[in-house]
This record gives sequence, structure tokens and C-alpha cells, in this order.
Amino acid sequence: IDVGASGGNATGYGQTRYGFLHEDINNSGDGGIYAELIRNRAFQYSRKYPVSLDAYRPINGAKLSIQMLDEPLSHALPASMRVRGHAGKGAVGFQNEGYWGMDVKRQTYTGSFWVRGHYEGSFTASLRSNLTDAVFGSTKIKSKSVAGEWVEHKYELVPKKDAPNSNNTLAITFDPAGTNSGHLDFNLISLFPPTFKNRRNGLRIDLAEALLEFNPSVIRFPGGNMLEGNTNRSYWDWKDSIGPLRYRPGFAGVWDYQQTHGLGLVEYLEWAEDFDCEFVVAVYAGLSLNGDITPRSDLQPFIDDALNEIEFIRGPADSPWGARRAELGHPEPFKLEYVEVGNEDWLAGGLKGWDTYRKYRFPLFQKAIQAAYPDIEVLYSGATTDGFPQTHSFPQDAIGDYHPYREPDWLVREYNRFDNETLRHIVGEVAAVHVNGGIRWEGDLYDFPWWIGTVGEAISMIGYERNADRVLGTFFAPVLRNMNRWQWSITLIQFAADPELTTRSTSWYIWSMFARHPITETLPVSSEAGFGPVYYGAGRDSTRDRALVWKGAVYNTTNNADVPIKVAFEGVEAGTKAQLSMATQPDADPWAYNDPFTGVNVVDVTRRVVTANAEGAFEFVMPELSVAVLDTDVG
Ligand code: AHR
Repeated sequence: IDVGASGGNATGYGQTRYGFLHEDINNSGDGGIYAELIRNRAFQYSRKYPVSLDAYRPINGAKLSIQMLDEPLSHALPASMRVRGHAGKGAVGFQNEGYWGMDVKRQTYTGSFWVRGHYEGSFTASLRSNLTDAVFGSTKIKSKSVAGEWVEHKYELVPKKDAPNSNNTLAITFDPAGTNSGHLDFNLISLFPPTFKNRRNGLRIDLAEALLEFNPSVIRFPGGNMLEGNTNRSYWDWKDSIGPLRYRPGFAGVWDYQQTHGLGLVEYLEWAEDFDCEFVVAVYAGLSLNGDITPRSDLQPFIDDALNEIEFIRGPADSPWGARRAELGHPEPFKLEYVEVGNEDWLAGGLKGWDTYRKYRFPLFQKAIQAAYPDIEVLYSGATTDGFPQTHSFPQDAIGDYHPYREPDWLVREYNRFDNETLRHIVGEVAAVHVNGGIRWEGDLYDFPWWIGTVGEAISMIGYERNADRVLGTFFAPVLRNMNRWQWSITLIQFAADPELTTRSTSWYIWSMFARHPITETLPVSSEAGFGPVYYGAGRDSTRDRALVWKGAVYNTTNNADVPIKVAFEGVEAGTKAQLSMATQPDADPWAYNDPFTGVNVVDVTRRVVTANAEGAFEFVMPELSVAVLDTDVG
């Protein structure tokens, strides 16, 4: 394979970018990267998900009931939990089992709860085993509770010992003898472990670190289907997601559970900031999953709302919405350059939805956004039709968003998908989800990202990278899956309450390998052997001392044969060193996957320094179903 020294294309925007889409699916937000440990902390509900005592259990015969008080904690949180006991029978209370367990360690937990009702005495908060009598830590909180008012109680709890497993609960008790009526009302019961970068209301450390280690440079949020909501009265409204938690009503999630809105717009923005990532924010465009389409005559309030959201994110601190952001603790504007209008607007509402998107919804949003913010790039979410980029139907100055969730064989064909494409796109969601020869959306997704799917993804990524002047970023989606409740099995990381179970998928290894070796310019490649079974691309990274990079993958050899590779970069002399990273599945088992319950990692990643031979070429061997990156930056 000869790699020319010039004649490629500059990438669209600096270095090639890899990243992910995040929306709350698979309890990836609540019960996932959002570090809150208490499930159903504020008894939030919607038409779709009735209010309940889910996750709570009484202690010492207490009677728990949902109340809709005349004076609730807030309009956003109208339901609360009444805990009733009998004086003289000792402390009563409740326990919360968290998101299917809680990890308890010797570290500082930050707790709070709101109480209404006269109470003289103290509360006890403790972290306990769900299986035995073990109490790992507990603390007393002096009551400030008074009749007729909601009063917040805050505390810190440092367990004396680590729990041996995550089957634990938080218990809160009080003595009914100290109350007037034998009961107290509770709401917004919260408990956080230490968070990523110590942010208040922040992210779960091990999950944030696993995502950061993959080296993303771009994040897309807040969805995905979540943005669109089930109906046009229950979409993800950014305004409900900001400010103190007691004013966040929660949201009828589209993935079979009520959401808290705890992971709100500011939390997303700070997440991107802490990861040093650029981001794409999607704004609601008047189309929901049930096919509700906002008519043209009613669209203006949604356009105004999108403009307000943009002002909230990047407006100066003295603009109306910028001031609100400053008030919430972030006076500095965030750097927002990409705004996507809607999500998959070719899908919900069928052709009609897409037609209204093309004819008036996208044009009206785009015009308004560009008039107010000429430097913002506007993304066209209707850019996919039946898995193909919708090439000629959106304005030249927009960026399409293409979502190939496909079989490995299809992803191999992505290798040249963009070769003749003139419009710019992001690949805003991509993953191998179905097996070759399967029945696609009528069938289940595969159980976990699996090796042949991962190699297929690698080939599609090489394809996007060799067209990086027009493919401006590639995003894995969705990224996280709580193994206790999930709707989508193909994710970069799987987890449960116990951090020991946090597992990087086969795809994580390849995506992180590619993300660690970005390029700023493609270089022309040629070979007598053509493409297949080896698929490859090359480039240079001017930000890393003009490092030369070659990426390749082997797919579908005959007889599982090893493939000898020789890569000669024009101008590279004998003795030049390069780092060769190679990922293989030692048995070349196409079905192998990383399973959190066995802990086995089926991917073998090796890194070694190789030296150019007398002709200045790097020689190595790649087995069937393998992925390699060669990079002259050995530092
Ligand atoms: O990532 C899962 C879903 O796939 C997203 O919500 C949606 O955009 C796509 O159809």
C-alpha cells in the first residue's frame, strides 16, 4: 500500500472527530451516568408513568403513602411520601433500594431530603445491606422540621467500611413520638457519592472515566428519540431541566421509564466542558414520536424557544437567558457551534413528517438560527432515508445527520459510501446492531457489541475518515446500558450499580484506538491489491508534528488466512519508527463479545514499535477480523 505525501483532502474541521450521542435510554442517565443513588427520589410522574412508591420499603411497620398535598414542595413536584408510625414503638422510616442496588464505600456521600411536619428529634440516615443486618455507616441529622412548611435537611455520611456487594439500601428513620400527628411528609430524597470532577449534581465517576478514556472529542445531546418525546406535549423541554432540582418536574421518557430531569441541559454542557469536547445540541423541531406534527402556523413559539435555548447556552451573561445561566453558576458562555434541528425527522410521522420538515420546519428554524447566529452550523436531522444519506434534498449550507444502525456487511459497504457525496454530514449515530443475513428491525438486536460487528464499524469509520472533508464527526449511539433495565443492547459500555461490572465493549476498544490517532488531512492510498479483504485509509496529523497515520481492517479473508501488509509512506526513510496498535480476537470468533457478568475481555490489543525496512516500508501481518493503526508519532 503506497501512501502519497500530498493530494488528499483537509478534514472538514481540524482533527477527525469521534464521539457519542447521549440520551436517557437503558437508564443511562437516571440510574446511569447521573450519579444520584435514589430511585424515584421525588415521586415524579406523568400521564404515561403513574406516581408510585417504586423502590421504597417501610421500616418497622411504617405506613408509606403518596400524598398530593395542597401545599406541595413545588408545582414541579406535587407528589410526596407520607411516613406514618406509632409513638412508643421505636423509630420508623423507609429504605430506598436505589437503581437496583448501591455501591457503598468508605467515601463521603452527600445526602438531602425535604420534610414537612412538626418534628422534635433527629433523623438517622444509614447505608445498609439489603441481605443482612449489616449497617456500613450512619449519621444523625437534627430535625429542623416545622409544621406547615417544607424544610430541607442536608447531611454527609461516611461509611466505616466498604460493603462486600452492591445489594444495599439507604434508610431514613425518625421517632414518631417527636411528631404532632405520628407522620411526616418527605420529598426529593437524594444521595450522591463523590462525582466526576466533584460537580454538584454530577456524574458517576467510573462511567465518566470509561467514556473519557475512549478519548471522545464531540458529544451530541439530548437525543435521539428522547428529544422528540412521545407527543408534542411531552417532548424534552430544556427549560424544565435547569435550575434547582425542586423545580424540575421530570419527563415522560420515551424509553419506558419516567425521567427525573436531573441530568439537565447545564449538566450536559458541563459534561462536555469537563471532557473538553465540542458538542452538538439538538433542539425540538415540532415533531414527536407518535407522529404529532406542529403545523406551520403554530411553529413560531418553538423557534423562539430554540433561540432562547441557544442564548442560554452561549449568550453573554447580560442577555436575558445568558443572565439565567450566570445565575445558575456559569457566567461564561459555552462554545456552541452546532445546532441540530430535531432528530430523525424522516422517521416519525412518516413521509408527512419528513415532508413538513423539508418544506417548512427545517427552513424556518435554519433561517431564524442563522439570522441570530451566523457562525452556527445548522444540522439537518432528516438526512437519512432507509439507512442511506439523503443526498440532494437539503440545503447546501446545512450539515446532514446520517444514522446507519446496520449489519456488519452493510458497514463494510460504508467504506465508500461518501466517496461521491458532495454535501457535508455527520454520522450522528452508528453501530453494528444486527447480524448478517438477519431480518433487521423485525428481529432483536444482537446481545452485546460483538467482534465482527466491531470490525464492520471500524471499516465504516475508515470510510468516513477518508472522506473527512465532508464527514465532520462520527458518533457511537447509544453509549451506556444499565444491565438491570435496558431497551437497547448495543452500547459502548455496560454497567450496573457495582462498578466492578462496568465493562467496555469490543467496540469501545476500536473506537478509542481510532480516536487516539486523529488526522487533519487525508493522504491518497494506492495498492495493486485494491480493497478487500483489507480496507484502509491514511492521513497526516499536523497537530502532532505531521504524524503519518494508516488505519486498516481485515474482513472476510478466504480460509481465515493471515494477510501480509506493507505500508510505504512517500518520503519515509529506512529506520523510521512507528507505533503499530493491533486489535484482534485471538480465535477470530465473529460472535465473541465482552460480557459484564463473566468479566472476560475477548479483545486483544497489542502495541509495539515497528521500524521501516530498507525501502522505507512498514511490514506486518494482520489476521482475519483484525483492526490496526500505524502512527509515526511514537511519543
Ligand atoms: O440510539 C437509539 C435510537 O436510535 C435513537 O434514540 C434514535 O435517534 C435512533 O433511532
